[in-house]
Amino acid sequence: MDFIVRQQQSADTACAYLGTEPSDIRGDLEALDQHWTETVRVAVSDTGRIIGAAVIEWDEGLDRSWVHGPWVGEGEWRSVSPALLEAVTTQAPVGRHEMYASVDHGEMAWLASHCGWRSGEANFEYARTSSVPTGDIDPAIRPAVLADEAAIRELHDQEFPGTYARAAELVSPDGPYSTLVIAPEGKVLGYVAFQLQGESTLYLDFIAVHTDARRAGIGVTLIDGAQQSSGRERVVLTVDEHRPEARAFYASLGFELEAATRPYRMSPSTSSMG
Ligand SMILES: CC(C)(COP(=O)(O)OP(=O)(O)OC[C@H]1O[C@@H](n2cnc3c(N)ncnc32)[C@H](O)[C@@H]1OP(=O)(O)O)[C@@H](O)C(=O)NCCC(=O)NCCS
Repeated sequence: MDFIVRQQQSADTACAYLGTEPSDIRGDLEALDQHWTETVRVAVSDTGRIIGAAVIEWDEGLDRSWVHGPWVGEGEWRSVSPALLEAVTTQAPVGRHEMYASVDHGEMAWLASHCGWRSGEANFEYARTSSVPTGDIDPAIRPAVLADEAAIRELHDQEFPGTYARAAELVSPDGPYSTLVIAPEGKVLGYVAFQLQGESTLYLDFIAVHTDARRAGIGVTLIDGAQQSSGRERVVLTVDEHRPEARAFYASLGFELEAATRPYRMSPSTSSMG
């Protein structure tokens, strides 16, 4: 555990499924579906010192695994990490495997390529802490109601096909999402969906504006509206690599890049080592 905690302290040696706090790392590892002490594999030096480790969790129903690590001491990566990866993945009776690291973790990219794993799309985490905008909320913004489902679905399915929440969940009064629409003269031009995290944070799940209504300040108005209606100063969100316009939008609003991560995947169609 001490070795893993040390490697977690820097993005270029860490596994992105886990954080940096020792108690969080221990708690997350303890909570894996297969107990980490059963799946952990270590590499040791001639003198018996731990120089590498890896853990794995899998779900047979989903036919997927999530490799935690590998974590490897400085200078040992290329000699140790391929064997560690193989030692954990061969335990998992599933066809698809994933590992996840900062884009700064160059050795992880090397390992994936060396073992024939595919690089997935990078994911960028942005955050901004700012005073909750004061003044009147734009009168065209209101909470989404069930009758907005079709209009939201059209935009949502176009912008986020196959994502983790459907339009019906975004407008459901019993669902986890708070959703606002901007609908001047009754036509929905955009929506924002968010969830509250802790005492002061708003996690922005989705925001989209109709193509023909973009660059008119609606995106800004929706984020202001979400902050005003929730009273939250900190806004966090993630954006995929294929959305450079959205990244420009958040950067122009003063959001800062907190992390950039990339999944690496192996599936039956991807060859494994050799
Ligand atoms: C991202 C999105 C919501 C922005 O909405 P919008 O209403 O066009 O944004 P705004 O008009 O409020 O833009 C505010 C500022 O952001 C920046 N910005 C917005 N879109 C931009 C783009 N395509 N390229 C560069 N900068 C951009 C500009 O600085 C803009 O100010 P300006 O128009 O005065 O130059 C919209 O482009 C969209 O729906 N994209 C598709 C869905 C999506 O990517 N959502 C985010 C997923 S995480």
